[in-house]
Amino acid sequence: MPGRTINSKESSMKRIGIIGSGSIGAAVARLAVAADYEVLIANLRGPESLSSLIEELGPRAQAGDASAAAGFGDIPVLAVPLAAYPNLPVDAFEGKTILSTGNYYPHRDGRIEELDSLESTTAEYEQSLLPGTVIVKAFNNILFHHIPNLANSTPRTALPIAGDHDDAKARVSAIVNTLGFDTVDAGALSESWSFEPESGAYTPIYAADLAVLAADYLADPGAPVPANRVRELLAESHRPDVAARQF
Ligand SMILES: NC(=O)c1ccc[n+]([C@@H]2O[C@H](COP(=O)([O-])OP(=O)(O)OC[C@H]3O[C@@H](n4cnc5c(N)ncnc54)[C@H](OP(=O)(O)O)[C@@H]3O)[C@@H](O)[C@H]2O)c1
Repeated sequence: MPGRTINSKESSMKRIGIIGSGSIGAAVARLAVAADYEVLIANLRGPESLSSLIEELGPRAQAGDASAAAGFGDIPVLAVPLAAYPNLPVDAFEGKTILSTGNYYPHRDGRIEELDSLESTTAEYEQSLLPGTVIVKAFNNILFHHIPNLANSTPRTALPIAGDHDDAKARVSAIVNTLGFDTVDAGALSESWSFEPESGAYTPIYAADLAVLAADYLADPGAPVPANRVRELLAESHRPDVAARQF
């Protein structure tokens, strides 16, 4: 729009940095450009490796490193394996609220005593690795290929969200809403086990057909799950036996 002035607050509200360009990071990036965000996305291999994704995302997207993504907009999205958290540029995240999509898969991340013993939820463990930040957990309980199918669905699909600071949760919730999902407050980071892997509010809740999901998960298109149903599933959820996890 010629002549329109974008003030700095509005500009920063329309920017989002995403660390991780894999299944989840790319899915969130696609929603973000569709919702008129400018996106800066980072991965481990470096910006040159992101050229085809940037081309697909279009002129609102650019590649950078993790520090640039952390500083691009108010709330960066972390969509990297849990084992990568200790390698992140901690200083770049200092003081930030972070939307974390991470889960603990021992076969990928190695066995982590604090998680196997149930001393910490995954989100609490992430918070301990990034102490100068405020972690808010979201987008960790939905399969990447269900994300585009269920964004802006009718009825609206809801995602659980957890965090220790109401203001940070509200700000992350506003982003998730803009990206096409309602949110349901699942409580503090210590309560986020209720939508961790193998809990009662994990990825299968969004399956259209559990048999199809089990046989060939990518063949399942997903089905909308409204907020009242997510609330029920969280209330009925059980804490998984993480030490017994085989994947
Ligand atoms: N896949 C799902 O459906 C799903 C659903 C919910 C939650 N999650 C969780 O979300 C997180 C991301 O999962 P994903 O499936 O998107 O993983 P993925 O496809 O393996 O992608 C991981 C991304 O993280 C990047 N990365 C790794 N270490 C990094 C570092 N130190 N700095 C910057 N970038 C780094 C990788 O970079 P390169 O591309 O350069 O290797 C890659 O782009 C995981 O914790 C996962 O459990 C996944």
